[in-house]
Formats: sequence, structure tokens, C-alpha cells
Amino acid sequence: MNKIWIGTNWKMTKTIAEGIDFTKELKKISNAITSDLQLFIIPSHTSLVPIKELTTSSDIFLGAQNMHWEDSGAYTGEISPRMLAEIGIDMIELGHSERRQYFNETDAAINKKVHAALKYSMKPLICIGENIEQKKQQISKETLAAQLKVCLQGVSMEQAKEVLIAYEPVWAIGEQGVPADAGYVANIHDFLRHTLEVLFAEVGRDIPILYGGSVNHDNFLEYIDLENVNGLFIGRAAWNIDSFQEILKKLELHLESEASQVL
Ligand code: 13P
Repeated sequence: MNKIWIGTNWKMTKTIAEGIDFTKELKKISNAITSDLQLFIIPSHTSLVPIKELTTSSDIFLGAQNMHWEDSGAYTGEISPRMLAEIGIDMIELGHSERRQYFNETDAAINKKVHAALKYSMKPLICIGENIEQKKQQISKETLAAQLKVCLQGVSMEQAKEVLIAYEPVWAIGEQGVPADAGYVANIHDFLRHTLEVLFAEVGRDIPILYGGSVNHDNFLEYIDLENVNGLFIGRAAWNIDSFQEILKKLELHLESEASQVL
């Protein structure tokens, strides 16, 4: 598993026009990238159609931030997997802590959405993370194992090949977030890898596990160097295209220098 996943969840921040400007610039940056990076962006639903027109002729994956699990029905305000598949969405972010916190999303509901995404050949990007109380009570691993098991209930080995996990400790996300230290992240990602191997045997070895939560210019290399961190899921530090470009440039230089040391 060599590919490194680097993407950004725009949350509720960009208009269509802003999203288009960002994506046009990102396409130029993406064309110049030589390392094995898989870039992805996750805009608001309103921007998906125009942005899909731009990402189609690029290597950038396009994701949606949420969806319902039913194909259609009387669910006012919701968007169905069938609708997102029609646009040609590559991946669906599911279970972000803000959805769990503000919209009462449960692991059981996320599990239904995971199956719906897989049915339409869209990759579920399942977000998990412990909150500060759980961390203080030293039940982070128990919490994460339970989230993983319930969210992935009934997923076959074959289907698991399409799944991505994002570990985002709730206490590290957003303006109030405290960046996690790399040792803590390493320990948790090793544990998540082990849990995925228990659930899916050798397939579990290759499921990408991304890290997210106050990832920024100063700390991202520490995270990406960890054995079981296969990518980064970035919020604020990637919302400005120049800031995102700086991270990508630094990462490319870092990967090149690592590769030259191996030779
Ligand atoms: P921040 O990087 O702004 O903390 O957000 C991370 C996140 O929520 C990605 O989904």
C-alpha cells in the first residue's frame, strides 16, 4: 500500500464559485505532482455537479460530506446514494464527528450508509474518533473498536477493499482543537490496523487509515511518517489553495528525499 491519501473536507465553507476557483488551481497543482498521492476534495452538495465537471479530467477524487442510506423516499432535506452516484461521486465521507455531535448520527446509521455507498460503488470514508471524556477515562481504544465494528457490520472482505478509515480525535478537530502528539497517533493507528486485520484478515492490512484533526504545516510530516498513517484528512489548513499547495510541495520534497535515501 504505497498510495498516500491527501484530502480536504470543506465542511460548510465554500460557495460554488469559491469551490470552482479552488478546484481549478488544485488541478494545476495535481498535474505537476509526481509522487504517488491520491488527492481528494469534499465540497458541499451544491458544488458537486460543477466541480465534478472539473475533476473528471483530473486524478482528483471527489467526495460528498453525507448522504441518506435509502435510494429514495419521503426524507425531506436529504440526498440519496442514487443521486450522488448519478453525479459520479468517488467517495462519501460518513460519520464525521460534527455530524455525530450536531445531527445525532449513530454508528448504526453510518453502517447503513456504508452499505448504501458500496452498493453504488462509491468509497465510504468512515470517520471515527474518541471525545475528550473518553480519552480521559482511558477508553479511547474501546470506543474506536466499537465504532469500527458497528460501522463495518456486514461488510464483506471484498467490499472492505473499497473502504477508507479516517481517525479524527474529536478533541483535536477545529478551532478549539488541540493537535495530537505523534506518539499518541502512532499508538492509535497501530491499534486500528490490528482491529482491521482481526475483522478482515489480510484485506485489513491494506485498508487506508487517514489521520485528521488540526493537521497543519508544522505537524503534518510527523503524522505522515508514521507506519500506519496512510494519508491526511485536512480541514482549515487546506481550505486556502496556497496553504494546501505549500503542504503538498513540502510533502513531495519529503517523499523525494526519503526515496533517494533508500536508493
Ligand atoms: P481541522 O483540520 O480544521 O481540525 O478539521 C479536520 C476535519 O474535521 C477533517 O474532516
